[in-house]
Amino acid sequence: MTSIGYLAGFETLDTETPGVELAWQGTPPAWLNGALLRTGPAKFEAGATAYRHWFDGLAMLHRFAFAGGKVRYANRFLQSGDYRDTVKHNAIARDEFATNRAGLLGSLFATRLTGNSSDNGNVNVLPYGEHDMVALTETPYPVRIDAKTLETLGPFAWADRLDCQVTTAHPHYDATRQLIYNFEISFGRKTLYRFTRMAPGSHSRSVVAEIETSEPAYTHSFGMSERHLILAEFPLVTKPLRLLLSGRPFIETYRWSPERGVRFTVIDKETGAIVRRAEAGPCFSFHHVNAYEEDGAIVLDLVAFKDARIIDALYLAGLRAGNALPEGLLTRFAIPLGEGPVTQKVLSSLTTELPRINYRRLAGRRHRYVWSAGAASGGFLDCLVKQDVETAKPATWSEKDCFPGEPVFAEAPNAGAEDEGVLLSVVLDGEKGRSFLLVLDAATMQERARAYAPHVIPFGFHGNYFANAA
Ligand code: CO
Repeated sequence: MTSIGYLAGFETLDTETPGVELAWQGTPPAWLNGALLRTGPAKFEAGATAYRHWFDGLAMLHRFAFAGGKVRYANRFLQSGDYRDTVKHNAIARDEFATNRAGLLGSLFATRLTGNSSDNGNVNVLPYGEHDMVALTETPYPVRIDAKTLETLGPFAWADRLDCQVTTAHPHYDATRQLIYNFEISFGRKTLYRFTRMAPGSHSRSVVAEIETSEPAYTHSFGMSERHLILAEFPLVTKPLRLLLSGRPFIETYRWSPERGVRFTVIDKETGAIVRRAEAGPCFSFHHVNAYEEDGAIVLDLVAFKDARIIDALYLAGLRAGNALPEGLLTRFAIPLGEGPVTQKVLSSLTTELPRINYRRLAGRRHRYVWSAGAASGGFLDCLVKQDVETAKPATWSEKDCFPGEPVFAEAPNAGAEDEGVLLSVVLDGEKGRSFLLVLDAATMQERARAYAPHVIPFGFHGNYFANAA
């Protein structure tokens, strides 16, 4: 049983820091010049109302900037419409993933009809072109931010006429085609899954493929190989009418239907044609790791849970009670592009989440290393993991009472090996009651340096490192 020194990571942080130099312990590599930008929930109550789920909290941006051997930290709430309304009314003003506005029947879909939908970008932060750094949640309302000052600039305005209610905060970037791909669901009398593409700098998506469905699956991310987009429909499904009329929070309209199994749909990026449909036994996943084509099959890695109870486990009440996370394992599927059954194997027996690869080099191509946060002691995420997918044994970093978040890979300049670089992870030190930025050698998993922030940084989800952006 781990200590529950991590509970501070689920408490509201009110303090905003305009920018403060932190002290390094140890020495980061001299080439580390740039910024780590992250987002995550940081406000869990408003007046007498409280959010119910980790995914609901209001977004705060965090920035660690590296220049000339020094590191500066700043944090600021995302001034989303959601945040401003909630602060103004001192009560939860918009429906979230698992929390509805007090006293109102509604759902994400219903609120969409009244133009009041969440733009609480607490899931990911990435560029939609050179001039648009955006904070994302799972609605089609990206919020533009100033990557240097963390100022909120306003909504990212779509120039196209595509209508959807949910999307993913994990778009893919295809560096060869120079296109951003994403996945959306448009609910209605006819509900559509839709893959889109968009050139960076453009505000117009175009349709790659649309697939009709009567029972849309909850979809947090999707797969991308060099030639294909891969939808994995896990059997956690809703019905548009239930979404509209049940009055339940968005995710609570979804039902676990294991008899459906997992349904893979492989789509040609160029033509939008469905290349293969295939099924496997039931499981649930938030995060695809990577996908690539080999020997006539799509090899697809993701973090698989036996069922969707991980969503239930992430309600704040359970997290604050110290409940353990369900087992989630790095799992590899092989989907033949021709005939033949899908095969799957577990790549590691260590429970893991928030996986990352050397994305710049290997998105859509064969990777060897996966870095993630792991739960080695059966409690919350308490270690960082490097998984060599060619061996079963993971290499880990951990420290007593320390709880790391997503490890973001920063590649060394002119790197040779795939793992030549560092991992950047925000770690809660439960004993000191503060968080620190940890710099690990990504190859050896040995610590290079750390720098303590002035406070606890609530557990966040995702972020990215931008070289030469300090
Ligand atoms: Co995610």
